[in-house]
Amino acid sequence: MPHDVTSLKLAPQGKKRIEWAAQDMPVLEEIKDRFTKSKPLKGLKVSCCLHVTAETANLVRVLKAGGANVLLCASNPLSTQDDVAAALVKSYGIKVYARTGEDRTTYYKHLEAALKHKPEVTMDDGADLLSLLHSNKYQKQALQVKGSMEETTTGVIRLQAMEKAEKLMVPIIAVNDAKTKNMFDNRYGTGQSTLDGIIRATDLLLAGKTVVVVGYGWCGRGFAMRARGMGANVIVTEVDQIKGLEAVMDGFRVMPMSRAASVGDLFCTLTGDIHVLRKEHFKKMKDGATICNSGHFDVEIDIPALKKLSRKFRKNVRDFVDEYTLPGNRRIYLLGQGRLINLAAAEGHPASVMDMSFSTQVLATEYVLKNHKKLLNKVYYVPEKIENWIAKAKLKSFGISIDKLTKEQEKYLASWDIGT
Ligand code: ADE
Repeated sequence: MPHDVTSLKLAPQGKKRIEWAAQDMPVLEEIKDRFTKSKPLKGLKVSCCLHVTAETANLVRVLKAGGANVLLCASNPLSTQDDVAAALVKSYGIKVYARTGEDRTTYYKHLEAALKHKPEVTMDDGADLLSLLHSNKYQKQALQVKGSMEETTTGVIRLQAMEKAEKLMVPIIAVNDAKTKNMFDNRYGTGQSTLDGIIRATDLLLAGKTVVVVGYGWCGRGFAMRARGMGANVIVTEVDQIKGLEAVMDGFRVMPMSRAASVGDLFCTLTGDIHVLRKEHFKKMKDGATICNSGHFDVEIDIPALKKLSRKFRKNVRDFVDEYTLPGNRRIYLLGQGRLINLAAAEGHPASVMDMSFSTQVLATEYVLKNHKKLLNKVYYVPEKIENWIAKAKLKSFGISIDKLTKEQEKYLASWDIGT
């Protein structure tokens, strides 16, 4: 089995983790049962560039059960669970290219391996694979790709920009934008796993701390809600008036970062944008301020500016914690080198929420395969039918059913439908 992983000896531990996660992914299991019988992806070459976690392992197992020939590479150099990567190769026969802590050259070598697999369908988390596919070297290959799924906000933003510039060469399904993804994974998944990463990295007591949440999209909303639940005094910063207003009405303090910088104990960026914490903010931070990022790329905190400002640097004062001492002997603690803290220092989102995101991925793949001749090189939403099926299956897994409209109610609502 072609692969590049840290050590195959780690496979037994990885297999246990994969099996543990599978127990909390009942919707994916339901799809797997159907796929095992009907093989809707028979012979389909799929390259996935995703965080290599126990949850992703269960996603690729379903693709394989459906008959696909799958290759998995890492979508981030720090998020790979090496034992899971090993188990995927050894116990499940998946081609895996991922080593935790891989350098930039290895990261790109692994992306190239994913394209050399000649995929007809790709899955991305951050759009790095798709970007490489659009480079001069691989552009011809893009013509063979029937469609691509994108898992995260940053990736969708990148792909929409490519569509706008008329550079997009494949149809995209924006899995991230599905309700069954962002209302749950981005909100409850990021909310919980970001706190988990911060606590594992620092052992910080949140009660009574001032936590500054940078960005109030689904991820920021989830994190702010959970930080408040742990007793933190939460401040939200935003650039969008509506989101700022929403944060106020959700009961948070809202102010510009120019003011929040001097009062925060812990800052977490969740914006998808560049340098939302920067020199002018570091200059105002208190001694002992802790900063981290939960957005996809490590650009949200201006680390080069932090390095420039600092007089002294101590690496790993604790695992995942680097100490920068600024003029005035103020120490700033940077977590996980500014990479997404929930996957760098913890295990990413819990399996139960990834169940919905990855079921969306799989059903979107099946949709692409059935409909690719009709699809243009555009960014599409996930069809509503898929979202409704996933929500129903997830509720069913919790033992919950909901009401149906009566005939009378249907008729009443339809009577308002002027023009049809
Ligand atoms: N993104 C966030 N959490 C994740 C997880 N557990 N697995 C894969 N991708 C993720």
